[in-house]
Amino acid sequence: MDLLVHPCPSIQNEIEVPGDKSISHRSVLFSAIADGISEIQNFLPGADCLHTVNCVRQLGIEVEELSSDALRVHGKGLHGLSEPVDVLNVGNSGTTIRLLTGLLAGQDFYTVLTGDESIRRRPMGRVVKPLRQMGAAIWGRKDAQLAPLAIAGNPLRGMHHQIPVASAQLKSALLLAGLYADKETAVTEPAFSRDHTENMLQALGAKIQRSGRTAVIQPAPLLKAQKILVPGDISSAAFFLVAGAIVPGSKVTIKQVGINPTRTGILDALDMMGAHITISNRHTSAGEAIGDITIEHRDLHGIELGGDLVPRLIDEIPILAVAATAAEGQTIIRNAEELKIKESNRLQSTARELSRFGVKIQETQDGLIIEGGRGYTGTVCSSHGDHRIAMSCAIMALTAQGPTRIRNVECIDISFPGFADTLQRISGQGN
Ligand code: S3P
Repeated sequence: MDLLVHPCPSIQNEIEVPGDKSISHRSVLFSAIADGISEIQNFLPGADCLHTVNCVRQLGIEVEELSSDALRVHGKGLHGLSEPVDVLNVGNSGTTIRLLTGLLAGQDFYTVLTGDESIRRRPMGRVVKPLRQMGAAIWGRKDAQLAPLAIAGNPLRGMHHQIPVASAQLKSALLLAGLYADKETAVTEPAFSRDHTENMLQALGAKIQRSGRTAVIQPAPLLKAQKILVPGDISSAAFFLVAGAIVPGSKVTIKQVGINPTRTGILDALDMMGAHITISNRHTSAGEAIGDITIEHRDLHGIELGGDLVPRLIDEIPILAVAATAAEGQTIIRNAEELKIKESNRLQSTARELSRFGVKIQETQDGLIIEGGRGYTGTVCSSHGDHRIAMSCAIMALTAQGPTRIRNVECIDISFPGFADTLQRISGQGN
């Protein structure tokens, strides 16, 4: 399926975005191992999270769909999962396979995990290696660096991990394994990655202490079912925030968005570029900060970014590159090598697709260099099967001259079902 996008004069609108993908995954996984019935509101019914729901069902947990974005999970407690009779398929979802690997390593049964062609290329060794140090028995292609992964549940030893990358998926896998270990498990990361696992496990009753970049979890807690309200996804909001920032005369408000500080790097980066952002209606739900974000168009300027900011906007770099195309001067993004191992090689796919519009963009060893300017032309883009690349091209198309056709946009449903409709509504057009 293709998406046709025309340039648009200005955007004046108030919108909502679907529930946060990271928090939606965790809400189902953690409710499955909590005692009792959990109700989840504003769940993201995107393809990735629906794969998590299917996997949890195959592990013997009843999940009722109350509506398209509301679930009831009949949790069976820490030791209530049962051996699936078939392979678990995570589709395109790195979060599902990595978190499940940690969760299943300490069960007393056997599981096989696989996923689509992109998942079977992505590195699993970063999770498998430290889990094996805890005593996990995991097999897979290339000594379990690649899925499919086979996991024979084993007794696990609690230990202190110093992880080499700021990865919430890796940290979460180890903390989940820690629930089943013989003593406490600690994870120290080199920079802060998203902390939704710590927040939600704590809200369900797990004993987690946090001190700086270290999280320590005690085994065998009594996790209690809860009502979970999933905030809007800031990673989805980012597309319309950038649209508001770069289309002259625009003012866009996105309501009820998660503004956990480990996720708001995109707001910091846009602020550094000169964007005008305000946050109102701030409140907290189950340890997660939520607010309405308003952005108004301003002239932007190029920035240099890297270091600890990168994990706080790791999924937003393609759309940040789109903002940089509209900025005065050069934007340099460093320390973003993790982007090479996402759903696509996002340094390469961002550079390739934006250059089709006439953007001067260069892929470096660990990032991107973008020369801001104007006078871009509509074109034909490829999604590379990557939802965030498809949506970044669609927003880029709003400021180009003439129409843009984006090929193979089915992948957008992975994180943002309804994106094309929202785009159509706010810009008065669409596909
Ligand atoms: C996620 C963590 C990030 C992010 C991904 C979702 C999560 O990956 O890119 O989209 O839900 O934990 P890493 O932890 O591998 O950086």
